[in-house]
Amino acid sequence: MNQTQTMCNFAVPPMERIRVGFVGIGERGTTAVFRVSGIPGTETAAMADLRRDQCERAKAWLEERGRPGAKRIHGGAEESWKAVCDDPDVDVVYVTAPAPLHPRIVLYALRAGKHVLTEVPGAQTLDEAWEIVETCEKARRHCMMLENCCYGEMEMLAWNLAHKGLLGTLVHAEGGYIHNLVWRQLEDNFRNRANFGGGTVHGFGNTYPTHALGPICLYMDVNRGDRMQSVVSMSSLAAANREFAEATYPPGSWQRRTEWLTGDMNTSIIRTARGRTIMMQYSTASPRPYSRINLVQGTKGCFYDYPPRLALAQKPGDEAEWMDGAAFEKARKEHMHPLWRTTGELAAKDGGHGGMDFIMDLRWVWCLRNGLPLDMDVYDLASWSAIVPCTGESDRNGGAPVEIPDFTRGGWKTAKPASIGDVDLKKMGFV
Ligand SMILES: NC(=O)c1ccc[n+]([C@@H]2O[C@H](COP(=O)([O-])OP(=O)(O)OC[C@H]3O[C@@H](n4cnc5c(N)ncnc54)[C@H](O)[C@@H]3O)[C@@H](O)[C@H]2O)c1
Repeated sequence: MNQTQTMCNFAVPPMERIRVGFVGIGERGTTAVFRVSGIPGTETAAMADLRRDQCERAKAWLEERGRPGAKRIHGGAEESWKAVCDDPDVDVVYVTAPAPLHPRIVLYALRAGKHVLTEVPGAQTLDEAWEIVETCEKARRHCMMLENCCYGEMEMLAWNLAHKGLLGTLVHAEGGYIHNLVWRQLEDNFRNRANFGGGTVHGFGNTYPTHALGPICLYMDVNRGDRMQSVVSMSSLAAANREFAEATYPPGSWQRRTEWLTGDMNTSIIRTARGRTIMMQYSTASPRPYSRINLVQGTKGCFYDYPPRLALAQKPGDEAEWMDGAAFEKARKEHMHPLWRTTGELAAKDGGHGGMDFIMDLRWVWCLRNGLPLDMDVYDLASWSAIVPCTGESDRNGGAPVEIPDFTRGGWKTAKPASIGDVDLKKMGFV
């Protein structure tokens, strides 16, 4: 591939002021507006939501706090978000609309010359992922998926352990999104009735892989020295939603009429070009306590989360014990990622998901203001999202291996590893 075309390690000149246009002011979008508006150097330039009142509520919140309010709000029509993308006073479009809409909005915004940040997943099909890559390369704009779990304290500790070489040669990792949402999926509200409402619900594969996969791809420098090559995927039987509906809702209710065929637990294994393996689990229908698993294993050690543990061998080949509480605490402090050391206290105040959402937003603002590459690029968006259709195809075919496209078209062999660095809060304007 022509190196002038690649978006690997792409950067733009420093931006002094970043004018952000938000699309989709629901649960996620509202908190994003609140967080980003608290970061000096940013301005909420515009907002759009199908429900205009959502924008009005967020605008009132901004005004009450004296933060630069959204000059323009749009709503009421299916495509009112186009006005945000076309707005000459918007530099960055921040997409928090429902997932099936992400590719359309991302593509339109890139073609309008905007940098784009999108919630997860960025695409649902391989065609969408390829179109986003090709459009981004042509537009020469940033296009990053807002994978907040990459910025969790334990994920960043694991990233640091891996990049300091303390785990040795990385060979295997495990991640998950195990989050019991049965009650939420069956609540009687507009969204659930529209999505499920008495029909048949059948999803194959892992439909929400990026919280599990994103951090692991950063540990392993996937798309920058390695790449995901193939995946196998299988789902268990489906039982938990039906059993909950039977125990909770009356006969004839839409919850009881809905046929839940999506397996309660999906397990997928990816193999990389360098021969590493990544095991991922996905379940929103399980009594298992919340977990992203977050295990990374090398020839010299292993980090394993939920609860966090670390085992380091003295030399390759030795067996290592999990550290006891005091030893782990010492290692946690010693190897804490600088970004968490600098921003952890600030993020804990109002950070979302334990602070990681705020740290993610701080980082892209810092990178744009300083002309640095973003921590994740369009190839990460495409390849992490591609796991949705690739695991779907494998699962539908009894776990047969499925090739994962190389969206970098060989660029992964020469791309430099991403250096996820610190930010300077004082320089950013925090006092
Ligand atoms: N990273 C995370 O931790 C995390 C957590 C939850 C959700 N998400 C992702 O965030 C996205 C939004 O999720 P949510 O929970 O905020 O959903 P939500 O339903 O609360 O919000 C979506 C908003 O988009 C609006 N919308 C719908 N169609 C629109 C259109 N055509 N134009 C403009 N606005 C439109 C809706 O009115 C709603 O306000 C999803 O893609 C989801 O996968 C990510």
